[in-house]
Amino acid sequence: MQTDFLVIGSGIAGLTYALKVAEACPDKTVTVLTKTQSDETNTKYAQGGIAGVMDFDKDSFDKHIEDTLIAGDGLCNRHVVEIVVKEGVERIEEIIEWGANFDKEKDGDFKLGKEGGHSESRILHHKDVTGREMERALLEAISRKPNINLLHHCFVLDIITQHHLGYLITKATPDVECYGVYVLNLQTNKTEKILSKITLLASGGNGQVYRSTTNPAIATGDGVAMVYRAKGRIENMEFIQFHPTALYEPGIRGHNFLITEAVRGDGGILRNHAGEAFMERYDERKDLAPRDIVARAIDNEMKIAGTENVFLDCRHFSKEKFTEHFPNIYEKCLSIGIDITKNMIPVTPAAHYSCGGIKTDEYGKTSIKNLYAAGECASTGLHGANRLASNSLLEAMVFAHRAYQDSVSNLNLRKDVPLGGILVGDWKTDGTTAPKEMILITQSVKELKLLMSDYVGIVRNNERLHRAMKRLDLLYVETEALYQKTIVSPQLCELRNMITVAYLIVKCAEFRHESRGLHFNTDYPGKLEMIQNIVL
Ligand code: FAD
Ligand code: SIN
Repeated sequence: MQTDFLVIGSGIAGLTYALKVAEACPDKTVTVLTKTQSDETNTKYAQGGIAGVMDFDKDSFDKHIEDTLIAGDGLCNRHVVEIVVKEGVERIEEIIEWGANFDKEKDGDFKLGKEGGHSESRILHHKDVTGREMERALLEAISRKPNINLLHHCFVLDIITQHHLGYLITKATPDVECYGVYVLNLQTNKTEKILSKITLLASGGNGQVYRSTTNPAIATGDGVAMVYRAKGRIENMEFIQFHPTALYEPGIRGHNFLITEAVRGDGGILRNHAGEAFMERYDERKDLAPRDIVARAIDNEMKIAGTENVFLDCRHFSKEKFTEHFPNIYEKCLSIGIDITKNMIPVTPAAHYSCGGIKTDEYGKTSIKNLYAAGECASTGLHGANRLASNSLLEAMVFAHRAYQDSVSNLNLRKDVPLGGILVGDWKTDGTTAPKEMILITQSVKELKLLMSDYVGIVRNNERLHRAMKRLDLLYVETEALYQKTIVSPQLCELRNMITVAYLIVKCAEFRHESRGLHFNTDYPGKLEMIQNIVL
């Protein structure tokens, strides 16, 4: 199969880009691949909303820029922050034109929520299901574009580069080029190759590397692992954001329900098991301090009390006020016997967002030619050491737009390059057989999640990182041996990708001899004066 534009991922970044290139180039083909159902993405689960300066009487670009820089703890690229904050407003207007609805006041102004680290109310939202609404609008707009082919249940295995033409590729090889991807079509169970002139990776996050995460099962860091294997540049993987308030349900781990930060924005108070509102002991911004501070405070309270959760107290809300903004959370809590007007909500931190990822420039270009990255899999320089709440949906749209601009002119330069002339071989299956027992994969996944949660979580130290690396080495060796002799499956490939991503997180964490933003190492509690990004 051949296509002009190939998009890996059907979340906000992939769909925004696909719509734009399809609109700009109606005579070109756009193929979007997604590994399960089209709407099963991190995007669908976004609750709080999208940050944007809408009320210029109270708010300003400068304030949003400043809040982003403060949260990023010295590591944001100021130029990129300015781009995202300023261009973001236009992107928000665009998605509204495509049909997304955000809540409004009676006078027609947007209802703007507040979240941790924001000095003003600037979060547009659709009740507490903002991502679901945005994903719906994008998928509907995609279905109206005849030149977009959205293929679900297509698991991308690897990016095709000169390596697949038989050349030896290393990190030092100049001009590594992307020619497309190998895909496991889960409907036919066949491995296919798709050649493309331009490819965008919009493959989302990697929360599944941890035992407790707000991310759905698809978030296994496949894009980052593929680019690393293809010798592309990966950056700042140590900055894993733990959301302070995932719902604590004993026995439920893997995809924890989120209690949006907007609940604290509206007045929810964190309390420990003694009933104490403890955040005032940690930061003057209390419950609305940036996420790294709140998550570490909760972690500390849980360790002191020997508990697995703290509480979010919303008992002072009226039912009407709570259900107007948070109907989904109200229903979810009620379904497990928690009436938020009478009971406190048990909450615990959970892996939520990857601030680092595939290194890109300000147009989403990666270090591999004709390969772009946008959304959570990318490291653009916006988030630095800690992402400001609700900046992620914004970044995804701004960078999808910028990648579209650049790739359309790139395609024009390459319009005469015949894809058929590239002699890429078929996926090799020689010597592989069907897996004998899945336990070899499922047990390794469990071990991986456990070691990452216990050794590479909210608080780290050198001994823990060292142990994590040793155990990862063993998992790597065992999994590679299995991979060489087994017919590929999503489960095996995801395990392999998660081991690579875990390795990158630990390696970056080992290189950072300081505590900054989301990376807190008790052996290096201070900050280094020389601020740097870690690029592998
Ligand atoms: P995703 O939306 O995750 O999409 C990834 C796509 O890649 C999927 O279609 C998947 O199938 C595909 N894919 C992955 N690997 C492969 C493969 N090997 N082959 C084929 N396809 C593949 N951010 C905010 O700004 N505001 C919020 O309120 C907010 N709330 C959140 C709440 C929750 C519970 C979560 C989990 C995240 C939240 N975030 C929020 C973060 C934000 O939702 C994500 O960062 C963002 O949606 C990521 O979008 P994306 O397009 O990069 O990836
Ligand atoms: C939330 O709603 O608390 C999540 C917002 C985000 O991750 O940006």
